[in-house]
Formats: sequence, C-alpha cells, structure tokens
Amino acid sequence: MAELSQTNAPIYEALRKFRRMRVVPFDVPGHKRGRGNMELTEFLGEDCMNVDVNSMKPLDNLCHPVSVIKDAEMLAAEAFGAANAFFMVGGTTSAVQSMIMYACKEGDKIIMPRNVHRSAINAMILTGAVPVYVNPDVNHQLGIALGMSVSQVEQAIRDNPDAKAIMINNPTYYGICSDLQRITDLAHEHGMLVLVDEAHGTHFYFGENFPITAMAAGADCASVSMHKSGGSLTQSSFLLMGKNINADYMRQVINLTQTTSASYLLLSSLDISRKRLALGGREIFAQTVEMAEYARSEINEIGGYYAYSRELINGDSIYDFDVSKLSIYTLPIGLAGIEVYDLLRDEYDIQIEFGDIGNVLAYISVGDRKRDIERLISALAEIKRRFGKSSAHMLTQEYISPVVTETPRKAFYAPKRSLPLEEAAGHVCSEFVMCYPPGIPILAPGELITPEIIEYIRYAKEKGCQMTGTEDIKIERLNVLDI
Ligand SMILES: Cc1ncc(COP(=O)(O)O)c(C=O)c1O
Repeated sequence: MAELSQTNAPIYEALRKFRRMRVVPFDVPGHKRGRGNMELTEFLGEDCMNVDVNSMKPLDNLCHPVSVIKDAEMLAAEAFGAANAFFMVGGTTSAVQSMIMYACKEGDKIIMPRNVHRSAINAMILTGAVPVYVNPDVNHQLGIALGMSVSQVEQAIRDNPDAKAIMINNPTYYGICSDLQRITDLAHEHGMLVLVDEAHGTHFYFGENFPITAMAAGADCASVSMHKSGGSLTQSSFLLMGKNINADYMRQVINLTQTTSASYLLLSSLDISRKRLALGGREIFAQTVEMAEYARSEINEIGGYYAYSRELINGDSIYDFDVSKLSIYTLPIGLAGIEVYDLLRDEYDIQIEFGDIGNVLAYISVGDRKRDIERLISALAEIKRRFGKSSAHMLTQEYISPVVTETPRKAFYAPKRSLPLEEAAGHVCSEFVMCYPPGIPILAPGELITPEIIEYIRYAKEKGCQMTGTEDIKIERLNVLDI
C-alpha cells in the first residue's frame, strides 16, 4: 500500500492487465467474455463483457480481500477520511443493513428518525432489533419531514439508555441535515454507536462548504451511495468505518447477505470513481453547486414554485442544507409534485429524480450541461403556464407520524390476512407501503392503519405516485395482523 496513491485504481489496473493476458476462460460467467451471448455483447460492448469476470487470484475476492480489492478499499478509506472502507455491490441498502446488523442483535434497541429509507426498517426485520423512532420535525408549509432535533434525541436517549446505536440521515433526500456533530457526541457519551445513512451525501466528502460528513463528525459507520452523486455504476456503494469498528467482524456481517459473485463492473466503477473524486472532486462539485444555484434562482424567478435552500436553516432540525440538491415545492401552482414529475417526462422528455405530494427533486450533477438546465427551467415555466391551476383542495400533508404497536419483525412474520384498503383502518399493518422514490415508508410492519393514512395512500395513487411494498401489486389490499 505504501507505494499506492490516490492516482491509482488497483482493481481497474488489475483488470486492464488481466485483459491483456488473454486468459482462456474455463470458469464462470458462462458467456465467456461475451462470445456465448452475442446479442448481449452487441448491446453492452465487448469491452464491458471482457471484464465481466469472476473472482480469481490476480483479481482478489470481495468476500475476503487480500490484494487489489484490499488496496482499493484502503485508498477509498483514505479518500473519505475513514479508518476502513468496504466496497459494496448490493447498493446502499446492503451497506445500511450491514451497519445495523453489526450494531444490533435480536431485541437490541436502535434510535432512528422515522423518515429513514426502507432498507433501515428492513434491517429491523432481518435482525429483530427494535426501532425507537424519533419523529422528525415537519415543515408544515412544504409538508416534508426534517432532521431530528437534538432535544428529541436527548429525550430518546434518556428514555432508552440501553439503546445500542443511533442512526441519522445525512442528508435527507430533500437535502436536510440534522446536527450530526452534537448527536454523534451525545450518542458516544452514552456508549451508543452512530450509524449514518449518507446515501445522498457522497459529495460532502469532496466538495467545499458542504455539511459536515459522518467521518469528520466522528461517527462509527456511514453508508455512502457512490452511484448517486459519486458517479459510479448503479448499485455500487461504500461502507465507511471509524476507528472503533472491528472491520474484520464487519466483513463477516457483510458476508451474511452479500453475493459470492461480486461484479467487477461495479467494483472497477467504484475504484475509478473514487480516484476521480479524490483528484478532482472539489472542482466537480463546485460546478454542480453552481448549476444548482443558477437553476434555483431562475426557478424562483418563475413564481409559484419554491426552490428552497439554506434560508430554511433553523439551527436544529434543519441544522444544515445541501445546496447541490434542487428540491422544489410545487403546490402553489396547483399541481402535486408527482404531477409536475409526470408532465416533465410526458410533455417535455425530462426525467427527474422524484415527485411526491408537494415537491419534486431534480438531481443535478457534473454530467449536466448548461443547456439541459435551461431546458428544465423553461419546461417548468411552461408547465406553470399550461397546466397551473388553483391550489385549493391540494393535500399538503406529506409526513404522518406513525402509531407503532408491534416491532417490524414480529408484525412481518405474524399471522396475517388481506383486507381491502377501505376496510383496513383500525388494523395493524404487517407490510410496507411507500412511494418509491423516496422510499420512506408511509406504513411499516407493526404500525396502525388510520383513516388519515388510507386517505393519503388513495390520494398518492390518484396523483400517480409509484407505490410499492405491499404483497398486492395493485395496492388495493393491505395485509394486516390477524388478531
Ligand atoms: C436515504 C437512502 N438510504 C438508502 C438507500 C438505498 O440505496 P440503494 O438504492 O443504493 O440500495 C436510498 C435509496 O435511494 C436512500 O434514499
């Protein structure tokens, strides 16, 4: 490792060397460098198929890395200011679940905001850990859930001194950050691990003037979606660890659910992207922010829309804001976020990241061109002119605090029956219901179904939100506890 620097990409370099060796494959994958599946090879390209290979000595093994993957992981750790890092090929979902499975076993408590991604609540089902939810503050104008306030976390710690860990979003999908440093210090004072979901925060590690990162705040673990703002291939992520985490045990935890056939396309994309960010991240994200700021001010000029930013900061539940996020409140033009999302795609050939009841999020990155940003701005102006209407009768409530009656695991595995949505009020749900994205459950297993939640689900479906989570693919029925 001594001779390696951030200019190296050990997995990528090993693959290039391997390609030159022209080794005859009598191993999997069976497409044999693409020759056995020409339609796929024509579609993806020979270069891609040539490096879709299996683990072998010269290329190391993700499940037990000792050479090039180990080196690449050490370079990643260095780039992110972590003690250790793991390459993850099961998305950030896999990273989130691994850090929870490391911290908690059956019956252990974990303090977390309720507006976590589904992967975190899924981990409660996998481990049998018990979530202690901190209901996030809500911005009632925008209808969005914010961060956890420090006093709420203090209260949760006082009520649950035996909790093993605290989980924090840094930032939320909308760009909102809690006071990560204070919460981390508080957790550590009480002997709790700090696990941070940084799916939307890769760029914090490389850009300037971004909110503090998990590793800089002294958190114990962070799940980082390199495939979001970091530029790597979809499904590739990093799990970062602080010095108090036993990385060798973490590797065993990861291997409980990780594939034994990790894709070298994903691994090399992580390696190359880490190098790119380590060498040029500052510039890359300065450009991203410049584009986001430009778009934000032009969109606010249109009127009606509200592209929000750091003015929301309140020193607590919005301790900081990620200015690279272009989150826009749409209700004043009489359209739900999801309607604007659909109109942008159907009428203007523009695909944005997500639309919910009151907001849209356009994902800005260095891959955007000025003319694409202009196109987005003018499409939004035209949507307001062509489709805007009165905003009376628009549902504004985005986040509904859940009534938790059962742990997610118990509810998920309990005897259950299926009820039509309209008859489900008063029962306890045994499955998830969520709009995806953002993937924050409206209902999680073990939560009471209320008339308000049914109304929300009906409204979200009617407006065209992509609903997921239920056994019934049409979301016309819900599984409830059979008691
Ligand atoms: C906050 C958050 N955490 C975790 C994830 C899971 O990431 P992945 O889709 O890479 O599994 C997502 C996905 O969007 C997310 O938004």
